[in-house]
Amino acid sequence: MIDYKYLAQKYDTPLYLYDFEKIENSFLSLKNAFKGRKSLIAYAVKANSNLSVLKHLASLGTGADCVSIGEVKRALLAGIPSYKIVFSGVGKRDEEIEEALKLDILYINLESEAELQRVEDIAAQLGKKARVSIRVNPNIDPKTHPYISTGLHENKFGVEIDTAKKMYLAAKKSNFLDPVGIHFHIGSQLTELEPIKEASAIVADLVRSLHKIDIEIKFFDIGGGLGIKYDNEETIKPYDYAQAILATLKGLDLTIVCEPGRYIVGDAGYFLTKVLYEKKSGDKRFIIVDGGMNDLLRPSLYNAYHKVEVIGKTGDETPADVVGPVCESGDFFAKNRPLPSTSPGDIIVVYSAGAYGFVMSSNYNTRPRPAEVALFKGSDRLIRKRETFEDIIKNEIELMDE
Ligand code: LLP
Repeated sequence: MIDYKYLAQKYDTPLYLYDFEKIENSFLSLKNAFKGRKSLIAYAVKANSNLSVLKHLASLGTGADCVSIGEVKRALLAGIPSYKIVFSGVGKRDEEIEEALKLDILYINLESEAELQRVEDIAAQLGKKARVSIRVNPNIDPKTHPYISTGLHENKFGVEIDTAKKMYLAAKKSNFLDPVGIHFHIGSQLTELEPIKEASAIVADLVRSLHKIDIEIKFFDIGGGLGIKYDNEETIKPYDYAQAILATLKGLDLTIVCEPGRYIVGDAGYFLTKVLYEKKSGDKRFIIVDGGMNDLLRPSLYNAYHKVEVIGKTGDETPADVVGPVCESGDFFAKNRPLPSTSPGDIIVVYSAGAYGFVMSSNYNTRPRPAEVALFKGSDRLIRKRETFEDIIKNEIELMDE
């Protein structure tokens, strides 16, 4: 049992807590699902990029899926070897491509013909052969929130099958490109297996047709997207996930690369916030807390559901909105939830906050970002200091009259 009250007092609120044992268990359950097959779990750094989290995962043998050179550097700093790092993303700056090539990472995921050209040019300038993979958009509806759906042609990600074929042919001809992989990622918080299966089958067929023309794809990168239980949703079991993918790869000898983010860290994270006071407006009951949308954006941005609980309080539960102090009506963590009556100083825990929590925080309203604490081997350890006012303003330069 986590002593939320003690931790809230010790580190103050708002606060992120991560249970490292849970992170480890999730990682291993996915890794084991692909046991016996050549596979690489390339943790999606964007979900939670705290260096201690990355270090912990590095010690378990993770790779990293990165979407900026900053994330690549984080992964390396945490001890993830370059040959386990992939670099994805719909837009990469020249400097980022150059650095990724110099660092000799496993491969760069390409998302357009124009990008292929850029990478080829930069590799030529460096006199290198760039290992690349092409992100295919299989045009499958992943049945998730439209903001986190990525595998339809209407989304900005990847290229159509025909374009991908053209790109593979161009890459094969080039002296500076080595097409080693194929990639797809249809969306995040996926709770249905069927769309994943369909997408995988489409992409596997493409691999077969590429093999026929001597384009030897080695890495089958299935992206991330495995969902977690925020509320009562049914989730996909890692074993079923792996089996579904493997079933589409009959006769192919490929290394499976999987890029899970949320599944690894999501339910290992807790966001603690303190009740400031309650107020009523007509029939509406508001619990006002010290955390805001700048600290945990998911409810505001996606209307995402996170379970909330008032620690140590029971009794009559009446519907309430849990809202933050930020000057936006969209600043809430929960709406119309049956909750007991609260007093100032009570601690509310927001569950499943380990993925896309701290990483999406900001200084909106000049609010310092929260501290992060690891629950590790029975102890609690600070892994990121709470920001101060000085931290927030340190890059600002006062305009002086010359
Ligand atoms: N690989 C690629 C290419 C991705 O775009 C993503 C997530 C992942 C892997 C990891 O997906 P995961 O396993 O975590 O579902 N901020 C949103 C989620 C955005 C996901 C973006 N891409 C949220 O809070 O729900």
